[in-house]
Amino acid sequence: VEQLDTARPEIRPAGGRRTTKVAVVGAGAVGSTMAYAALMRGSARTVALYDINKAKVEAEALDLAHGIQFMPMAEVVGSDDVAVCTDADVIMITAGAKQKPGQTRIDLAEATIGLVSKILPELLAVAPDATYVMVTNPVDIVTYAALKISGLPPTQLFGSGTVLDSSRLRYLIAEHCGVAVQNVHAYMAGEHGDSEIPLWSSASIGGVPLLDWTGIEGRGPLTSADRDEIAHEVVNSAYRIIEGKGATNYAVALAGSRIIEAVLNDENRVLPVSTLLDDYYGISDICLSVPSIVGRHGCTDRLAVPLSPVEIKGLQHSANSLRSVARKFGY
Ligand code: 2OP
Repeated sequence: VEQLDTARPEIRPAGGRRTTKVAVVGAGAVGSTMAYAALMRGSARTVALYDINKAKVEAEALDLAHGIQFMPMAEVVGSDDVAVCTDADVIMITAGAKQKPGQTRIDLAEATIGLVSKILPELLAVAPDATYVMVTNPVDIVTYAALKISGLPPTQLFGSGTVLDSSRLRYLIAEHCGVAVQNVHAYMAGEHGDSEIPLWSSASIGGVPLLDWTGIEGRGPLTSADRDEIAHEVVNSAYRIIEGKGATNYAVALAGSRIIEAVLNDENRVLPVSTLLDDYYGISDICLSVPSIVGRHGCTDRLAVPLSPVEIKGLQHSANSLRSVARKFGY
């Protein structure tokens, strides 16, 4: 457990003296949809949208504001002035280079790191106590660089990691096995990207280990070939979506809202966010995703998930490939 920064102000629910505020940085497809998802889910009382493109951010905020009547009680503000993020409890950073068809997330590193080094000090000046969640890709590298740039403790700044990939994994398992996705527990770990791995050995459906799953009526078991196909689909689904519509936005926005809620409601929820590891199966000094605890004080702990030898190797390989990218950019 890393040190808790108990000096940070407490969040009070709406109706108390102080209401909750989330700031979304970047009003592109991901940021605008995340603002929409957070408003629709009632994740926070105030949603602030910040982007350097004044016309775009004001238009997105206005369009969202016109829908508030049909949402849980909320307020939405949008501006090209960073002051709109003042005193936010959670800051979601979605601004950055856009992944084009054929590009990997790693290809965006240089542009995004440059942007984050400029934007973070400005945000810290207006919201020093916020929990910072990096969403921009390559998210693990960006998170690692952002920790160095900001000097924030790793509890307070982390990345959205493989929360989205894990929901893709659960969706595919649920489809294959014919059960509700909410009853599937399974995680993608490592890089949010090409070297990520599924943690099959700890995956389960309703308490039944997935590796022992024999199927329910009308559905067969989940064979090793099925598992390989599902893992391949998870790793490659973003590429398919980007080919088809230019960006992914809905599922990542919902995953982001889930992280916001875990913090604002102090849920201590298990989420595979990307954090700085310290001797996790021998992995240190790089950010990647493993099942972790997220609550009011940010990401406070990593779960000691039992891993198979293949999973340990896969995670270490993912760490090594991320580390070599980070070093290439001087981090
Ligand atoms: C996604 O996985 C592209 O990182 C983005 O949807």
